[in-house]
Amino acid sequence: MQPLKVAIIGCGWVAGTQAREGFGALANLFELVACCDSVAERAQAFAAEHGIPHWKTDLDAVLAMPDIDVVSICTPPMLHHAMAISVLAAGKHAICEKPFTSSLALLDDIRAAEARSRGRIMPIFQYRFGQGIWNIRHLIHSGLLGKLYVSSAETAWRRGPDYYRVPWRGKFASELGGVLLTQSIHIHDLLLWLIGPVRAVSAFKTTRVNPVEVEDCAVASLQLADGSLASLTATLGSVRPATRLRLCFENAVIERMAYDSDAIRPGQEPWTVTPRDESLGAQLAAQMRGASQIGSGFAGQFALFHQALREGLPFPVTLDDARASLELITAIFRAQETGAVVHLPIDAASPGYDGWVPSAR
Ligand SMILES: NC(=O)c1ccc[n+]([C@@H]2O[C@H](COP(=O)([O-])OP(=O)(O)OC[C@H]3O[C@@H](n4cnc5c(N)ncnc54)[C@H](O)[C@@H]3O)[C@@H](O)[C@H]2O)c1
Repeated sequence: MQPLKVAIIGCGWVAGTQAREGFGALANLFELVACCDSVAERAQAFAAEHGIPHWKTDLDAVLAMPDIDVVSICTPPMLHHAMAISVLAAGKHAICEKPFTSSLALLDDIRAAEARSRGRIMPIFQYRFGQGIWNIRHLIHSGLLGKLYVSSAETAWRRGPDYYRVPWRGKFASELGGVLLTQSIHIHDLLLWLIGPVRAVSAFKTTRVNPVEVEDCAVASLQLADGSLASLTATLGSVRPATRLRLCFENAVIERMAYDSDAIRPGQEPWTVTPRDESLGAQLAAQMRGASQIGSGFAGQFALFHQALREGLPFPVTLDDARASLELITAIFRAQETGAVVHLPIDAASPGYDGWVPSAR
């Protein structure tokens, strides 16, 4: 297969990271041929920085280029749905940044558009692509850990007033939410990927750190389909950044404690497994050595994206994964609003299906 020809839409922070650490690190698989930003100087500077031959100022101009295979949507969250629909309508493959969109209804709309298209769409959750969490997931699926009792996931990061100078941040209409949509969405995806699905949610959220419209602190209690319980904590006011995951199984405790600059790489090693006894420990270690080897972050996700297109396989992150993420967010907002326990799955007949963004409901 020739390298896939890629266009990046929205030439901001994450686009640069995708270009450097993702597409740029896989030059045998991808060729960056176009970029697009509504601000012409940004598109032009991005093209120059990454050696991209074409730059545009609107998505339609990119979609009119016949040789583009893949469009990576790196624009602010409120634009993801409309852009995903346009890319699929043009028959091209789409990659879409988190948060995927603002409701389960809009996600299902994108799913229907994909069914009508020659193109396919992959949501981004690049935190999954780390050898540490890959080994742990392999271990969990072996059944050797026994019954899961409780888990916890903590996203304690820090954002100050500077962060909100970017105009789309801090507002429901453009960011779609706060810490739950933008930061802890990654960590909650890791937990769901390891031990989901979720069956019931109770939650509180509030805004205490910065004077913004969206939440910057949240907690939730979950009941999982396997009967285990989990707690989530998220804040943007932690003086020391930390990401912590802890899973207490019958036969072992699994932990990842990531501090400071490591807090944004929880999928990477070191994960620790503390077994019930030594002989089981050797068995668990041997099991983990059987996990497949994967690349890190965007390069890991994009390499498997390419393989999936080559071999007709499911993408490494699917619409069902994006749905599970948005369903949890829907449930947390709904639990806060009603003060009641919210039961999952949330379907088209359920309250909350049309999302949590006040103006969109
Ligand atoms: N996966 C991750 O780890 C990660 C990290 C950061 C951001 N993100 C996500 O990526 C998205 C972008 O975030 P960012 O921090 O890069 O934002 P950013 O503000 O740095 O960049 C967004 C760019 O999109 C451009 N833009 C706005 N409207 C446009 C339009 N109609 N057409 C073309 N370009 C347009 C803006 O001019 C800007 O240059 C968000 O959804 C964010 O949540 C993901």
